[in-house]
Amino acid sequence: MAIFSLVYCAVTGVAAAAFVLAKSLSRDTERRRRGSETEPPTASPLIPIPFIGHLLGIIWYSVQYYTIISKKHASPILKIPIFGRTIYVARSPELMPIFHRLPRVVSLWFIEAKFTAQMGGMSDSTAKQMAENLGPGGDDKTTFTIEGLKVMHQVLGPKGGGLVEMNRDSAQILNARFNELSRTTPLEPIDLWDWVQHEITYAMTEAVYGSTNPYRDPKVEAGFWDFEGDVAKVILTGVLPNFIARKAIAGRETVVAAMRAYFDTGDWRQGSLLTRARYATMSGISTDDTARLETVNGIALLSNTVPTAFWTLHYIFSDPTLLGRIREQITSITSSEGAVRTIDFGRLKDAPLLFSVIYEAIRLRATGIGPRMILQDTVVGDEQYLLKKDSVLLIANRTLHFDGGAWGVNSQEFVPDRFVQKGPGGAFRGFGGGVNLCPGKALAMVEVAALVAMLTMRFDLIPVGGKWIEPGQDLTKVLQIAPPRDKVLVTFRCRQEAMNLSWKFEM
Ligand code: HEM
Repeated sequence: MAIFSLVYCAVTGVAAAAFVLAKSLSRDTERRRRGSETEPPTASPLIPIPFIGHLLGIIWYSVQYYTIISKKHASPILKIPIFGRTIYVARSPELMPIFHRLPRVVSLWFIEAKFTAQMGGMSDSTAKQMAENLGPGGDDKTTFTIEGLKVMHQVLGPKGGGLVEMNRDSAQILNARFNELSRTTPLEPIDLWDWVQHEITYAMTEAVYGSTNPYRDPKVEAGFWDFEGDVAKVILTGVLPNFIARKAIAGRETVVAAMRAYFDTGDWRQGSLLTRARYATMSGISTDDTARLETVNGIALLSNTVPTAFWTLHYIFSDPTLLGRIREQITSITSSEGAVRTIDFGRLKDAPLLFSVIYEAIRLRATGIGPRMILQDTVVGDEQYLLKKDSVLLIANRTLHFDGGAWGVNSQEFVPDRFVQKGPGGAFRGFGGGVNLCPGKALAMVEVAALVAMLTMRFDLIPVGGKWIEPGQDLTKVLQIAPPRDKVLVTFRCRQEAMNLSWKFEM
């Protein structure tokens, strides 16, 4: 079967989305079609030019195109045809459990396997191994990509043993950093994004890689963020020359070299249970590809955790009432013994506002598009819509997150207590769902909560100019949570009432 690809992307200096439709629509597709079922209604392009209107819209609006289009049409799922290829955009909470039941047909794994190999610059043989056996009827146990993800789910699950250890490690590391910060509080304003990025990178990678953490080298950390910042361009090098992503590829290679040494020397044995368990699943591939896979794994670890922490802090510190309430709840789970204050994370359920604010920040700031590949003709929903094999399905997360029917009249507003109660099922896509539910959810939530809890208890953040200003989001990023567009400069000031005390976490 002829293999060809269509890359649809937004290249306005930065690619916004790029998905490869790997196989041509074939006779096989036609054979599986059942008589009466029809595809979802076709969306009219925002830019009304025949044939290329949608493509121009994607280039112009980037990933937000799918949000805008899905809001303009009432149908639960839409079809966007581009040059004979098809993208479906799903916007209805009711469809989500249906997709969850079909992970080998409506496949995130296929997209992950394809792009992980491309992002990491892996060998053809490893790329092939990652993409093997992902379709309907396959056996999870013998599928390289699925097996690797399952191990992550196990280790980071409630009974996995890795989670508590890593949460404890990252919280202690953050605490040590806060102790240092209280001794050396800079008087000059600092960029809040840069600060959050560095602290989360340090705490998360220490917890994952242990005492021989490759990210301790500032060149590796800087290389990683160069890579991450332009990862969409790296994907585009599948069809365009490498020079379009020169800086990102150079950054990636710095991390790869450090990771190769980490695995070659056996340093990985000092790493967390997660690192050791992941390494065991990679025994069939070369050390170079192991290092490349681990470099891409940095994106899973950090790319959404950093912006989640940033936006949560922005919401809390820009609202004095909310900041006061958060401090009150953290105080209620903090014990005092002499000059020692211990924040007890075992009692987080008694401070429900903290997690609620993090979820609400994710709800409002999620920009991802939940890509899936349709690997077999399938029929979904009450309307019995036919989704055709070899099409791409995107989940309009942002439309779902602002859906008035699901979230109520205040769906557009930031409501700090919204997630103190359980949110509406299907309409919150912050961590995805079904078997693809983010395995790092609990790790990331506790890490962000630890950062927020310590910072709010020990410091005030004073914005330059005296007022918090909405920085907007950089929507050219293809992440689940887009980072801020503008800089937010703040001065850190130790709180009077937190000085001369020693702070700790209990996990
Ligand atoms: C606040 C931080 C994070 C957010 C908002 C987030 C969000 C997401 C989302 C939306 C997905 C896609 C799920 C879907 O489409 O159904 C996902 C998948 C994934 N995430 Fe996270 N994530 C975060 C942190 C992490 C961390 C810390 C790790 C690593 C330990 C991680 C590892 C993964 C992996 C491996 C997948 C693929 C799961 C699969 O295909 O089965 N994530 N995440």
